[in-house]
Amino acid sequence: MSHPLEQLRDEALREIESATDEQALETTRVKYLGRSGSVSSWGEQMKTLAKEERPVVGKLLNEVRNAVTMAIQTRAEILHSQKESMALAGIDISLPGVTVPGAYSGYSGYGTGSIALTGYSGYLPLERGALHPLTQILERSIKIFRRMGFALADGPDIENEWHCFDALNTPPEHPARNEQDTFYLEDGRLLRTHTSTVQIRTMESAPPPLRVIAPGAAYRRDEVDATHSAQFHQIEGLYVDENVSVADLKGALEFFMRELFGPGTEVQFRPHYFPFTEPSLEVYVKSKALKGGERWIEVAGSGIVHPAVFEAVNRARGDKAYDPEKWTGYAFGLGMDRLAMILFDIPDIRLFAQNDLRFLRQFA
Ligand code: PHE
Repeated sequence: MSHPLEQLRDEALREIESATDEQALETTRVKYLGRSGSVSSWGEQMKTLAKEERPVVGKLLNEVRNAVTMAIQTRAEILHSQKESMALAGIDISLPGVTVPGAYSGYSGYGTGSIALTGYSGYLPLERGALHPLTQILERSIKIFRRMGFALADGPDIENEWHCFDALNTPPEHPARNEQDTFYLEDGRLLRTHTSTVQIRTMESAPPPLRVIAPGAAYRRDEVDATHSAQFHQIEGLYVDENVSVADLKGALEFFMRELFGPGTEVQFRPHYFPFTEPSLEVYVKSKALKGGERWIEVAGSGIVHPAVFEAVNRARGDKAYDPEKWTGYAFGLGMDRLAMILFDIPDIRLFAQNDLRFLRQFA
């Protein structure tokens, strides 16, 4: 025969289990655990028990109280989430949205509820959003590189000259450092002219080997036209290991381009000059699958990391982690605006920043 306390516990647990709403559960709680509830009154009865019985029953009573308390808690959580999902069940999230009258006052050229100062207070449909074409291609590209084992890295848009130029073997007299080419802040910092700054920041903070990509914005004082914008986007890549060669660089970028533009894509590497790579190569693509893809289009700069870059990183780190005798690497900087223009057949880079919904809707 089980102890009457155990019978009380089983009875309580059954009742808790069958409570179908929060009200019923509360009634059950009071019945067992309330001031004059049956579990509590057992505490009173303890006094009447024989001395040697008290510890045994006391222990049992504690167990029963804990079990009942726990069961009520668990049941309360279940009832709460049932109530929440029932409340949501009646909502059809595919229905078009409405704005609350008066909450958005004003003109909305495309019905998206943009805020203006006039007193409009009617219902406007809220449209479904979509990703910007640049965001779409960035996400696709990042996915491809992640499959190749690249981790994500980043750095600030506002940089110092050291990360943007000096550490990248770019001497003071280099034209990129000219005021005509770069946005300087009054305190001497600048808007980074390329994402190669993240190469330096990554190596400063982690020893080799490493394999990272760094997507982000870059800024130059270019004359703005159909193919130049003061702000553009790059994906920087850096791979440092032993015996890294141009073949590795070529393999990685060819794989990337074919994943992005299709298997028929041709990739060409042409000799070039960057202070921070040696040899340096410009990357061109051509693909019949793309409109205007019959000609070679330049999409990236790349090369083998210059030993002077490793030396600069070592000086900043205060160690010899990037010993150029031991470590080698490749780096690349992909022009994402250019890639998006090819992929989506966009004639003018300025369209990306004009926020014209007639343009953006085509990529939704
Ligand atoms: N940072 C270079 C640019 O913006 C591209 C580049 C990156 C070249 C990495 C070589 C290696 O033009």
